[in-house]
Amino acid sequence: MKISVAGTGYVGLVTAVCLAERGNNITCLDIDKEKISLMQNGTSPIYEPGLELLMEQNKENITYTTDYMKAYSDAQIIIIGVGTPEKKDGSANLKYVFEVARQIAQTVEQDCIVIVKSTVPVGTNDKVEQIINEHKKYNVTIEVASNPEFLSQGTAVKDTLNATRIVLGVESENAEKLMKEMYKEFDIPFVVTNRRSAEMIKYAANDFLALKISYINEMANLCEIVGANIDDVALGMGMDPRIGNRFLNAGIGYGGSCFPKDTKALHWLASFNDYELKTVKAAIEVNENQKIKLIKKSRKYFDSFNGLSIAVLGLTFKPGTDDLRDAPSLVNIPLMIEDGANVKVWDPVGTENFRRIFPDEINYCKSIEETIVDTDICFIFTEWAEIKSFPLNKYKELMKRPLILDGRNCYSLTEAEDAGLVYESIGRRKVHTLIE
Ligand code: UDX
Repeated sequence: MKISVAGTGYVGLVTAVCLAERGNNITCLDIDKEKISLMQNGTSPIYEPGLELLMEQNKENITYTTDYMKAYSDAQIIIIGVGTPEKKDGSANLKYVFEVARQIAQTVEQDCIVIVKSTVPVGTNDKVEQIINEHKKYNVTIEVASNPEFLSQGTAVKDTLNATRIVLGVESENAEKLMKEMYKEFDIPFVVTNRRSAEMIKYAANDFLALKISYINEMANLCEIVGANIDDVALGMGMDPRIGNRFLNAGIGYGGSCFPKDTKALHWLASFNDYELKTVKAAIEVNENQKIKLIKKSRKYFDSFNGLSIAVLGLTFKPGTDDLRDAPSLVNIPLMIEDGANVKVWDPVGTENFRRIFPDEINYCKSIEETIVDTDICFIFTEWAEIKSFPLNKYKELMKRPLILDGRNCYSLTEAEDAGLVYESIGRRKVHTLIE
């Protein structure tokens, strides 16, 4: 089918490339000329494993353009995958979605389906339809349908090609038929519902996962107080298929482009409708506190960071991405600097993005060794494979004091003890209480 995709971020570009891989003819549209020319030359503007290879393999079926008239006029389906960033009050900013809707209305010359893939509050599809009908230039039928995605960064291509379900939020049989045709080579079960339920499924799923993480983080905090071990607790809980063993990793909280934004947006939507979503509110609060848990822990070793040399391993919100959105590092590192610390950081792919936000005051290192040498404390914020496989004896060998505060439970307590480290993690018994 002839499909145009508006927006070439994680959602838009990955969806576009996967639809091309499954036999559709795709036009990718973005207002950013630089991004478009990168993609025209075969380079992905985002770091996503497998994406560039699929772009190359499907280059005959994908066109990249900044010209929305060219992209929309004769498309059978137009997918909106532009950003819905968080506004100051926590609600989702829909101006980009609505702008695309207006452009579609003014350009489309044949009947088509507009699919909203961006994560949008319940009722947005109705507004998109209203905008299109108000601004429509030609006498054509443009239907609007919801089709949320559930991809995770770092595994986005795999998640899209092997999704657990495809949610179709439709108000007509025609929209259902055309969307099923677009996905006909995917072999993934459909959940067909109305638009508002589809919009709600996305938020309900994301917020449930965020809640699950905040729940396990609270259990971890309690484990520390009562002397239990969260690894064993999570194992014992997760074997119950009603709970499931995924998303039970305790740590310093969730970040990324979805959970922080989507929890706040749903909470805002509920408040706006005079309903208090207490569980989601709790998940947000727990997460905010969890992010600075390691700094709180460090207080028992040092009253202040003034004059200390601090190593930070991992900057991104999770491994496998260069994305820093709502990453714990963004909250913690400024606190360290403000307190007078000299901060050295390392991340395998996130350094350049971090440098753009903090160009000065931070020493950017090229290896873990270079980062930890002669430091007083090492904080771990992301569980990169390179960190997990780093020989523990090197901390003892290179650091001024081998104090490791691990926010992602990268190492086993026994191995850390055997390596002679002062090692604190999340929800597990610590090895030593005093620095040698
Ligand atoms: C998430 C959802 O998984 C995806 O379905 C949705 O479409 C977008 O949001 P993503 O943000 O890419 O995807 O990452 P995810 O792997 O879900 O992790 C989100 C955050 O939760 C990360 O900061 C991660 O470190 C944290 N996390 C995840 C935990 O702290 N513990 C866990 O057990 C799992």
